[in-house]
Amino acid sequence: MAYYERAGSFTTLKLDSLMGAAVGPPVGKTPKWQDRGFSLSHLAVKIKYLIYLQLFLNSFLISPEHYNSLANNFEHLWQEIYEELIPLLMKSLDLKPHHIVADIGSGTGLIAETIFKSFGLKDPICCVDPSPEMHQLAKKRKGICPVQKTAEEFFSDTQISQCFDMVIAVFCTHHFVDHDAVYKGIFRSLRPGGIFVQFDTISDGHPKFKMAVDKWSTHSQKASERKKFLREIMFQGKFTQKEICSPWSVTKSKLYEMFRCRYMSIFHQLSDEQIEEGIKELESESLKDVKDNELINCIYVMLLTKFELEWR
Ligand SMILES: C[S@@+](CC[C@H](N)C(=O)[O-])C[C@H]1O[C@@H](n2cnc3c(N)ncnc32)[C@H](O)[C@@H]1O
Repeated sequence: MAYYERAGSFTTLKLDSLMGAAVGPPVGKTPKWQDRGFSLSHLAVKIKYLIYLQLFLNSFLISPEHYNSLANNFEHLWQEIYEELIPLLMKSLDLKPHHIVADIGSGTGLIAETIFKSFGLKDPICCVDPSPEMHQLAKKRKGICPVQKTAEEFFSDTQISQCFDMVIAVFCTHHFVDHDAVYKGIFRSLRPGGIFVQFDTISDGHPKFKMAVDKWSTHSQKASERKKFLREIMFQGKFTQKEICSPWSVTKSKLYEMFRCRYMSIFHQLSDEQIEEGIKELESESLKDVKDNELINCIYVMLLTKFELEWR
């Protein structure tokens, strides 16, 4: 629970401040202009905290336990997707053995280890993730240098400057709370000619029950806001975005297991009863003629966003 307590206190701090700014009287002597309930500095503070609130609402909040409880099961639940998707992900990267790499939201370290081996890197990959349970697994892998921190904590250190040739973030940027601060830190951390590449899910492509569709549409709306945010980032270099499709198949029983284990954070917002109701809905409608061990063909769509810094 420790890391989410930290992540939690990060957001709580801002919300507390927000509440304070909205309702709390200033401490100490109150100048006359404040008696009238208005000042430019008060207005500036309120605008600042409204921006914080906007950031908070734009992040995809998860409860402290989500990745803790998922860690041991994560690779099993994502197996069918990752078998097809990781080779495509590797194809979109270009690394040399001497390159220094950081993986943000590195989870179990599966992707970092694959990168380390595929490109014959000389130095281990700096794996930044707040989850102790995820790191427990990552530490057993080759080519990993674990850093148990959120992206916000890691990049708040101004000494993390011009040290990476590539920073990668796979399916985790929706959890960032302060996107401005994290992206600023990522660009500072890159060497001239360095690359930041992030992968985001656009669609998992499997059948869903109605309540999951609703959760997914909220997720998609926030994702398109983030897509716009990415396009508007000012930096010196080349920006590219492209969608990558990855076909995958899963049996009906495994798909239900993925729902029940909440393999994706959107399912974490649903209760056990809601998930069981959803499975019943699929059983009586779209999947009623599919046998438990029959394969369902799906298409995973991910968005690759790449920032290539100029050589200076
Ligand atoms: C869906 S998992 C992806 C893991 C890994 N990148 C992969 O694709 O196998 C998302 C990861 O983001 C991490 N995470 C959550 N909040 C984070 C934050 N603020 N900064 C960095 N990582 C975060 C979680 O602990 C989790 O391991």
